[in-house]
Amino acid sequence: MNKKLGLTALGAALALSLTACGGEGAGSNANTEDADASELTIGVSMPTETSERWIADGNNVKEQLEAEGYEVDLQYAGDDIPTQGQQVDQMITQGADALIVAAIDGTALSSQLQAAADADIPVISYDRLIRDTENVDFYVSFDNFKVGVAQGTALLTGLGVLNADGSEGTATGPFNIELFAGSLDDNNAGFFFDGAMSVIQPKIDDGTLVVKSGQTDIEQAATLRWAQETAQKRMEDLLTGSYNDGTKVNGVLSPYDGISRGIITALQNAGYGPDLASANPLPVVTGQDAEIASVKLINDGVQSSTIFKDTRLLAEQAVAAATAFLEGEEPEANDTETYDNGVKVVPSYLLPVETVFKDDIQSVLVDSGYWTADEVAKGQSD
Ligand code: GAL
Repeated sequence: MNKKLGLTALGAALALSLTACGGEGAGSNANTEDADASELTIGVSMPTETSERWIADGNNVKEQLEAEGYEVDLQYAGDDIPTQGQQVDQMITQGADALIVAAIDGTALSSQLQAAADADIPVISYDRLIRDTENVDFYVSFDNFKVGVAQGTALLTGLGVLNADGSEGTATGPFNIELFAGSLDDNNAGFFFDGAMSVIQPKIDDGTLVVKSGQTDIEQAATLRWAQETAQKRMEDLLTGSYNDGTKVNGVLSPYDGISRGIITALQNAGYGPDLASANPLPVVTGQDAEIASVKLINDGVQSSTIFKDTRLLAEQAVAAATAFLEGEEPEANDTETYDNGVKVVPSYLLPVETVFKDDIQSVLVDSGYWTADEVAKGQSD
C-alpha cells in the first residue's frame, strides 16, 4: 500500500517536472516565456578582440539585443580556451537566461554547456559549430562550404583561369600555388578547405595549378588559432623551402583576411610586390571577412579578394534565435542536415556570402554601409 502511494507520488512529481520543462524540447525555457525582456540577461561569448570581425560581431549582437530590451553580458576570451570556459561558467552562475557562443575550440565547452542544459539555458552556437555535445540548441552561420567554393573560385579568377562571370578564362598556367587552411579546432576550417579544394583539385589534376611545396593536406596547411604571425612564418618557410630556385608563387589560397595579411607580409619581405601590378607581382591572395585592413589592401591592389560575411545579418539571426527560445518557441531553421556536431545534427540558419574584388568594394561594402569610403581609404574602422 505504502509502496503504491510512494510510486504514485513519484509519478506525480515526474509529471510536474515535465510540465515545468514545458515538454517543448531542448532549449525552450518555460521560466522566461512570460518575463519582460528587461528582466532577462543574455550571455555573449566571443573568441578574440585581435580581429576586427569578432569586435563587429560582438558589437552588433549586443546592440541588437539591447534594442530588444535585453540585458547583455558580452565577454571576449583573448583566444584562450580556459578563459572562455571560465567566462561561460560565470555567465551561467550569474543567471544568464540564454547563451550565444562563438567558440575558440569547438570541442572544449562540454562541461559548461552541460551546466547550461541543467539550468534550462538555451545555447546558440554563433558562426562556429560547437561540437561533441547534445547541449547546443541552434546554429547560426553562413554556408561555410560555399565560402570555400567562393575562395577557390576567387583564386582561379584572380589568376585568369576563370573569367569574372565564371566562364573559362584564357590563362592556362601552369601556376604555382600554395594552400593555407584555418585552425583545425574550428569546425569551419574543414568546410572552407573542402569547398575550396572542390574547385582547385580538378585544376591541380589537369596541370593548370601546381602546389610546389607538395603540402596539400589540411593538416599541413592549417593555421592554429587563425594567427597572422603563424601564417607569415609558414609562408616564409614555404618560400625558402620551395622557391629559392628563382621560381615564383603565383597564387595563395587563404581562408581568412588575418592569415592573408601574414602571407602578404612574408611575400613583400621576400621581394614580391609591393602590389599585384608590380614588375615582380605579389601572387593572387584570397581572404575572408572583409576586415577593414584587408579591404584597404584590396582597394590598393595588394590583396586580390575577400569573402564578405555580413556580421549584421548574422547578429540578427542570433538575436532572432535567442528571442524565439526565450519566448518558448523554436527558431526558424533553413538547414537541418549539414551540421552534425558529432552527437546530433544541429538545426541551423545559414546566410549567403559575397566575393569582393577591388571593383566590388563600392557596391558591396560601401553602399551597404558596412564600411565607409573613408574607412576603406584609411584601413581602419571609426
Ligand atoms: C572562422 C570564421 C571566419 C573567420 C575565422 C577567423 O570561424 O567563420 O569567418 O573569422 O574564424 O576568425
